[in-house]
Amino acid sequence: MNASSSPTINPLKEGLSNRPLPRPCNVVIFGASGDLTYRKLVPALYNLQVDGDLPATTNITGFARRPKSDETFRSELGEALGKFSRSGRADDIWNDFSSRVHYHQSEFSNGEGYRLLAEKLDKLDAASGTAGNRLFYLSVGPSEFEGILGKLAEYGLNKTRDGSWARVIVEKPFGHDRSSAHDLNEKVSHVFAEEDTYRIDHYLGKETAQNIMVLRFANSIFEPLWNHRYIDHIQITAAEPMGVEARGPYYESSGALRDMCQNHLTQILCLIAMEPPTDLSADSVRDEKLKVVRALRKYTPEQVAANVIRAQYAAGAVSGKEVPAYRSEDRVSPNSETETYVAFRAFVDNWRWDGVPFYVRVGKRMPKHGTEIAIYFKDTPGVLFNAQQAGLGPNVLVLRIQPDEGISLRIQSKRPGAQLAIEPVKMDFHYKTSFGKPSPEAYERLLLDAMAGDATLFARRDEVDAAWTFIDCIEDAWHKSQNPPAMASYPAGSWGPKEADDLLASDGRAWRRL
Ligand code: BG6
Repeated sequence: MNASSSPTINPLKEGLSNRPLPRPCNVVIFGASGDLTYRKLVPALYNLQVDGDLPATTNITGFARRPKSDETFRSELGEALGKFSRSGRADDIWNDFSSRVHYHQSEFSNGEGYRLLAEKLDKLDAASGTAGNRLFYLSVGPSEFEGILGKLAEYGLNKTRDGSWARVIVEKPFGHDRSSAHDLNEKVSHVFAEEDTYRIDHYLGKETAQNIMVLRFANSIFEPLWNHRYIDHIQITAAEPMGVEARGPYYESSGALRDMCQNHLTQILCLIAMEPPTDLSADSVRDEKLKVVRALRKYTPEQVAANVIRAQYAAGAVSGKEVPAYRSEDRVSPNSETETYVAFRAFVDNWRWDGVPFYVRVGKRMPKHGTEIAIYFKDTPGVLFNAQQAGLGPNVLVLRIQPDEGISLRIQSKRPGAQLAIEPVKMDFHYKTSFGKPSPEAYERLLLDAMAGDATLFARRDEVDAAWTFIDCIEDAWHKSQNPPAMASYPAGSWGPKEADDLLASDGRAWRRL
């Protein structure tokens, strides 16, 4: 398929959501010396400028504890850009962009640092016409949130004047369970209104995740089949060859379920399972996603044991390279009981999805990198072509979130020749070949949306709360019940534990090979 060969380009494509334009503002990144700033945030802002999407006078101020001059900060960022920017670095654009990047050294708890920040932002407003608009990005651990929010309020940085706005973007993890997420939400809500609070889930910013709604609701052929009458089951996989790298302490307190399932994979599941929203406004879309999370069946500890597998990687080899067991990773307890892999069978208990299992699996140290959703359709009737015992195999629609973003549909076809032989073939759409240019990074879209005041791709408070309710019943069964299900093990570089294969085998199904 090739987009350029389509006869008309939909003129509505840019205005589908009636999105307001992003406004020039001061972006302030708390925790600016962290990895995220260098690898994701600044490359994203820079690439927005390359594509002409960044409002021209946007300023970026990095707020962090380490002493550093503007020049040092700029040169470090410039170096990182060479590695992490999808478009590389063009010196003329970088010079213009980096002249609007500043560094602000302060402890997060030091009031004077915020007073000086307010002064600095006022000056930047006056010099560059950013009109008092502020976007605060909390790229810090959750233990810092409260202190920073308190100081922002104390120094009036959350206040708006003359039509300006002040918004906050909060990075995950958003709480550790429902109760801590509730406390955190309360704290944020004392400083920023819900409509000014942007809880980031970078999966929602991925082009392919955004395309799920387009595939379902901008095409007429899928939606009539998108229910329990035609769909047998759904598989959602997020596999990473990486281990925990330098994030041992964080991961020890999180584990795969909290790290990937409470947020990213629940969001993906919602996009697949939701009803069509009445319009594309942030709240209409999020209302529908919320209904899905609320309809997720909550398991008793016995049901958790039967429906959820947790596992940890042992030593093994990934891409031919020996790698250590999770318990031997840097700053990980040698007796750790943290899961690096989860597989579960979930049910969305509503009319559309009655009885359809959603199998979800996520793991570190898998043989391959790949996130995908596979929709398995029901078999054709057992007469004619599907009469043999082995059967033809189902139609499978695969939405590849990453890498090699695209969509494929497995269909049956007659092999050419005098004999009647049937073989599965694939109809395949690749973003790369159809659109001929790389997709923007998730953070580009999300930062731009926050500047535009469009929260559609950010998690709302009630969504986060409902997702924790689902996750908490699993965590509680693992950590608080009398008879917790055992932790399984898998060699690094394998597709997970045998128990996860058994989970599907008990339903007469198998995981898809990526
Ligand atoms: C992060 C998790 O949110 O998502 C990481 O904390 C994980 O553990 C990452 O590796 C995966 O993101 P992506 O975009 O590489 O699939």
